[in-house]
Amino acid sequence: MPQRPYVIDEMISAKQIAARIEELAAEIGREYADTNKLVVVGLLRGSFVFIADLVRELNLPVEVDFLEASSYGNSTESSREVRILKDLRGEIEGRDVLVVEDIVDTGYTLSHVRHLLSGRRPRKLKIIALLDKPARREVDIKADWIGFSIPDEFVVGYGIDFAQRNRNLPFIGKVRFTEDA
Ligand code: IMP
Repeated sequence: MPQRPYVIDEMISAKQIAARIEELAAEIGREYADTNKLVVVGLLRGSFVFIADLVRELNLPVEVDFLEASSYGNSTESSREVRILKDLRGEIEGRDVLVVEDIVDTGYTLSHVRHLLSGRRPRKLKIIALLDKPARREVDIKADWIGFSIPDEFVVGYGIDFAQRNRNLPFIGKVRFTEDA
């Protein structure tokens, strides 16, 4: 399907993201100060850049694992049905776990993932999301840490895609559709 033409307007700069990650990592370090090893679980694929930067700021012993839940496919609309496409490699029972998400939108993905992982009885389960769109929430769920709260805009960059494009932008930008020429 041909993509409608669009431009990307910068919303959060690479510098702002880096500064916020430093603050968040310090808070997480305090929360998990007593851990012998923190399991950092990245939700694929949108969190891959965030998790890479976050773990390098964490002054804790960490292990990294990934989970993939179904997402939007090629559209900008969320789906209420969440499927697990790739499960964790490791066990989390009795462990300290931090789930790393790119965006909380309707909240369906995170609430499904939290339910799934808490059923495995970790010692502590907390969630960090880089972006939060509170205006879009349909399920009552809150991350324990949020990078930035943003308005209801479709965003890309810093790992986040639109139809598998723009993940490699170093900043967060909003998609603005332009008229056909
Ligand atoms: P939720 O289940 O509606 O909360 O959707 C969460 C997932 O939808 C996120 O992890 C993203 O992968 C995707 N998503 C939500 N908003 C955006 C956006 O603005 N741009 C790109 N992907 C988004």
